[in-house]
Amino acid sequence: MKIIIEKNYSDLSKKAADIIEKEIKNKPNLILGLATGSTPVGTYKELIRRHKEEGLDFAKVTTFNLDEYLGIPHDHINSYHYFMYDNLFKHINIDEDNINIPNGNPENVEEYCKSYDEDIEKQGGIDLQILGIGENGHIAFNEPDDKLYLGTHITDLTESTIRANARFFDSIEEVPKKAITMGLGSIMKAKKILLLANGKNKANIIGKLLKDEVVSTYNPASLLLLHPDVTIILDEESASEYLK
Ligand code: F6R
Repeated sequence: MKIIIEKNYSDLSKKAADIIEKEIKNKPNLILGLATGSTPVGTYKELIRRHKEEGLDFAKVTTFNLDEYLGIPHDHINSYHYFMYDNLFKHINIDEDNINIPNGNPENVEEYCKSYDEDIEKQGGIDLQILGIGENGHIAFNEPDDKLYLGTHITDLTESTIRANARFFDSIEEVPKKAITMGLGSIMKAKKILLLANGKNKANIIGKLLKDEVVSTYNPASLLLLHPDVTIILDEESASEYLK
């Protein structure tokens, strides 16, 4: 596991964009796993800048997003579909046919979840997976529990996640209580993983993850300790407990 500590969020975002750019240049038809949330927004902004100013080419890139709220319309301002178009896709030259985001309103949930994992497999698996981390250690929406699912599945969001995500909604009651998410198995199959964390609110979980050296389903991110190619980029605030 490679740990990179950058001074601030802006430097973290540039470093993450460097890594993604390098992978795209090495393999123009990269299969890129993407996350939503606040953490990768700066990275996406930097990728957009590099596309517009330096010609970074997304024409052959295929993306798979980690998760989507269940029961929320595609065009809802808080859907992860909306988020991805707003923060990245509509600003770059990605082919719309190459964008995959879990459908928050599938007709047959079980079949749909299976097909999402099959689509990833058909592409030869994810080359580089971008991840954020929840304050409770969740990755994608794999929440702390006594068991974790391997494949894409429907999950209940925990109180902690609902509270954390309420900042995007008018009221906490509006936050969906369920989501569709890639499972730990799908994530762990990615060839490379890039986990980003910034800010004081991530310091505790990052300290626990990197200092305890324990794998537990109650800290889903700890499974990444078993992956052979993980890079973690932190800013100084999120690294503060780790460095103590
Ligand atoms: C989002 C996702 C979540 C977030 C996590 C951190 O697609 O998978 O696991 O990465 O909740 O969210 P932020 O970045 O908003 O702190």
